[in-house]
Amino acid sequence: MTDVNGSGAPAPGGNTVKVEFEDGIAFVYFNRPEKRNAMSPALNAEMLEVLEALEVDERCKVLVLTGSGEAWTAGMDLKEYFREAEGQPLNATLRQRQTAFFWQRNKLNYFLKPTIAMVNGWCFGGGFVPLVSCDLAFAAEEATFGLSEINWGIIPGGNVTRCVAAKMSQADALYYIMTGEPFSGRKAAEMRLVNEAVPAEKLRARVVEVAKTLMEKNPVVLNAAKLAYKFSREMSWEQAEDYLSAKAAQATLFDPERGMKKGISQFLDEKSYRPGLGTYRREA
Ligand code: COA
Repeated sequence: MTDVNGSGAPAPGGNTVKVEFEDGIAFVYFNRPEKRNAMSPALNAEMLEVLEALEVDERCKVLVLTGSGEAWTAGMDLKEYFREAEGQPLNATLRQRQTAFFWQRNKLNYFLKPTIAMVNGWCFGGGFVPLVSCDLAFAAEEATFGLSEINWGIIPGGNVTRCVAAKMSQADALYYIMTGEPFSGRKAAEMRLVNEAVPAEKLRARVVEVAKTLMEKNPVVLNAAKLAYKFSREMSWEQAEDYLSAKAAQATLFDPERGMKKGISQFLDEKSYRPGLGTYRREA
């Protein structure tokens, strides 16, 4: 639990999930390095609590999801979710899986602030769900990804296949689902599974640079823009047209900065900036 800016308030998490605050960025770590950050039931429960807390924590303007040690995450904990689940009552295992689904697909995917996956190392199987749920993803070129399920006798379940189908081409998805072959961060960027791959020593600096760009934008509009993208892509064109008009009106109504008025006025009246080339002066 670290607050580099020293506000004094404790950071959420502290066991299987670690949080560090730095200049408006909350670095959230999968924190079981000795288990390659495999997601156990305890980690999934703690991650849900952490995300709930960060959504209303002013120290978090952008969330960066990364891993302690040499892994991002080695996926679902094979011991605790698979071997130890044998013989457990159905409701107990369903509840554990719902918690994982809830933080990954609901809370993280629709998080009220921008999210960036910073993939520092191993990323396998179940790890693809939080990866695809982050708004943006940057990987170390040396990171290793894999849909390894076929190698140990199951299909990529727990929505991994669904995530892969949403993000990867059919050729790439079926190749890696069916061969289980690992691939590098560089290859992940080439396939557009992540936005960019950079050498490991430059990864954090590049992610901070992108986070700072996001922090320059109007946060109400930024949130509306990402949710609009994620919801409208599942709609018919007619539904999307209606929903997006309503969403735009909602963002304008709830924007305390009155950003649209400012942006248009600074362009048309003051002629002080070009919207095509940058953000309006937010403090004005
Ligand atoms: N679930 C549970 N435990 C895991 C795990 C997982 N997904 N991945 C790693 N671990 C544990 C290992 O069992 C080992 O525990 P131990 O020290 O108690 O024996 C520890 O983490 C270190 O793993 P190890 O295999 O020795 O590390 P490595 O650096 O040599 O290899 C991996 C790293 C990620 C390549 C390898 O651990 C691996 O293949 N993990 C499984 C990946 C996978 O198929 N995930 C899909 C899950 S949906």
